Amino acid sequence: MKAYLGLYLSIQKSLFECELVLVEILSPLCYPFLMRYAIISDIHSNLEALEAVLAKISGFKVDEILCLGDIVGYNANPNECIDIVRRTGIRCIMGNHDSRASGLEEPDNFTPLAKEAVLWTRDRLSEDNKGFLRKLPRELTIEGFIIFHGSIRDTDCYIIDEKDASDNFHLLENLPCDMKLGFYGHTHVRVALSLQRGKVFLEPDGELKLSTWKRYLINPGSVGQPRDRDPRASFLIYDEFSEKVDFYRTDYDMAATQEKIIEAGLPVELAERLSMGR
Ligand SMILES: [Fe+2]
Repeated sequence: MKAYLGLYLSIQKSLFECELVLVEILSPLCYPFLMRYAIISDIHSNLEALEAVLAKISGFKVDEILCLGDIVGYNANPNECIDIVRRTGIRCIMGNHDSRASGLEEPDNFTPLAKEAVLWTRDRLSEDNKGFLRKLPRELTIEGFIIFHGSIRDTDCYIIDEKDASDNFHLLENLPCDMKLGFYGHTHVRVALSLQRGKVFLEPDGELKLSTWKRYLINPGSVGQPRDRDPRASFLIYDEFSEKVDFYRTDYDMAATQEKIIEAGLPVELAERLSMGR
């Protein structure tokens, strides 16, 4: 009897293992449109940080890289960063620095530091790269989610407090296809906010399993100028199949970036703030 039970259990175990293997093989065939995205934001002309992030992303087998705006501004390699974005086919939207550096708008509402850097950038951008920045869309609806820079319908507005988040959840809800998920940048602070029964919650940092009962607004943090007291370059991976968002940070050659800022004659504060992550 014991021998039969043992045989029965081992057959059951083998069948279960076969099922797992089949699920693994068939899932991409059954759900061919579910993608794995790397989402980056606020590169801000930081070549060393961008290269380090892309090197790390190359280990994740992503289907596409999306960028939430502000390729340029603050740091010293605007053309080089745009060239990488263009060459690697990263789908990108326009940030407030991109619109000012390309001459589409004037930096009248910028802080003196940001204004100086954006005008320095404008002087050095190639005409071809300015044209590229000018043509970027302000937001993009991807299958199942939206990406935008500052807030929905406004590149320059920030999502900082509960009221901003609540307003943007409302806008998310009222988009034509009733979106459950939005990714944004601009604050340079990585965060995941959720809306459940009309209330805004702060989700834990690190790894996030998305729930079908909640809506989410998620910021991957900044590649080139993090402001959340962690100076490492920040990004996330969003896997539609496992419905998971994973946040990552990576070190980069910050000393090289800082040296370039000083050599370029950009304000020294821009180099100093990189070390502080603010
Ligand atoms: Fe930015």
